[in-house]
Amino acid sequence: MTDQPSATEPTPAADQRLVIRGLRVAPVANVAHEILQGIDLTVGKGEVHAIMGPNGSGKTTLAYALMGHPAYVITGGSVTWKGRDLLKLSADKRARLGLFLAFQYPTAIPGLSVASFLRSALNARRAGLTPDPSVDPTDPLRGGISMGEFRRRMREKFALLKMDESFASRYVNEGFSGGEKKRLEMLQMAVLEPEIAILDETDSGLDIDALRIVAESVNAMLNPELGVLVITHYQRLLNYIRPDVVHVLAAGRILTSGGRELALRLEEEGYAPILQENGYDVEVTDEAPEPAAASAGH
Ligand SMILES: Nc1ncnc2c1ncn2[C@@H]1O[C@H](COP(=O)(O)OP(=O)(O)OP(=O)(O)O)[C@@H](O)[C@H]1O
Ligand SMILES: [Mg+2]
Repeated sequence: MTDQPSATEPTPAADQRLVIRGLRVAPVANVAHEILQGIDLTVGKGEVHAIMGPNGSGKTTLAYALMGHPAYVITGGSVTWKGRDLLKLSADKRARLGLFLAFQYPTAIPGLSVASFLRSALNARRAGLTPDPSVDPTDPLRGGISMGEFRRRMREKFALLKMDESFASRYVNEGFSGGEKKRLEMLQMAVLEPEIAILDETDSGLDIDALRIVAESVNAMLNPELGVLVITHYQRLLNYIRPDVVHVLAAGRILTSGGRELALRLEEEGYAPILQENGYDVEVTDEAPEPAAASAGH
């Protein structure tokens, strides 16, 4: 027995949490410049964690690094999930293991319908980490999801998210408004039923109604098996998605963590006081905190 988790086999009595220790990440384009300089974070099943931080602090970098995006290199630290060394797995395998990332900027795939896209994604997810060669997930007669079963599941998810079923026949993200793109991300999440969801929230592109729709979708999907990491730089979203823990990411680290009151404090004061308390010279290029009038839910 060693302490090192294996990439392929979970340890016995595997830790079911996502455990990030001392994670250091640099862009491939500039390996000497570490964006993340030692992130420690643990997300358990059924928990909702929020990560807040100024623009450019590395929130999206963290999300990409966790999903295995090729533009980033891990320069130190570890990430384990279900006792596996996540960093040794390809992005595809991470998704098959139940990790899900809702992108800040989803891309369009002209010519591919939402329904076909979701069906392929679901089949890949169902095939699992080490696909059984006797099972062809794309073939309903050999273990794939049948068209009827898929349609039933889609209908169920459209209803859950209060979405119009006409969405299914549109091309992925083509001509979608910002709000519609987000809804598609949510639909994808609902269909895939991940166990860890990382939501990189582009609050700036969403009006207050779209933000609420996203939040309501997430809330409708919360369950004791799902751990959620919500990335945002506005407290506003957290009026709708109630996090168990709020973390402040700045200067490449989690500077401090707390309850919802921490998010409210950031809204009041911006990031400068928290940075100063933690011994950092403040030169935060963050925009001003959103005006109180935009916050809702009180
Ligand atoms: N692929 C890359 N190559 C070079 N620099 C990068 C790369 N990705 C991120 N960076 C830099 O790392 C820093 C962190 O970027 P990141 O997108 O992670 O910030 P963020 O916290 O998500 O910001 P925002 O709140 O604006 O979404 C920025 O200075 C950015 O320019
Ligand atoms: Mg970002």
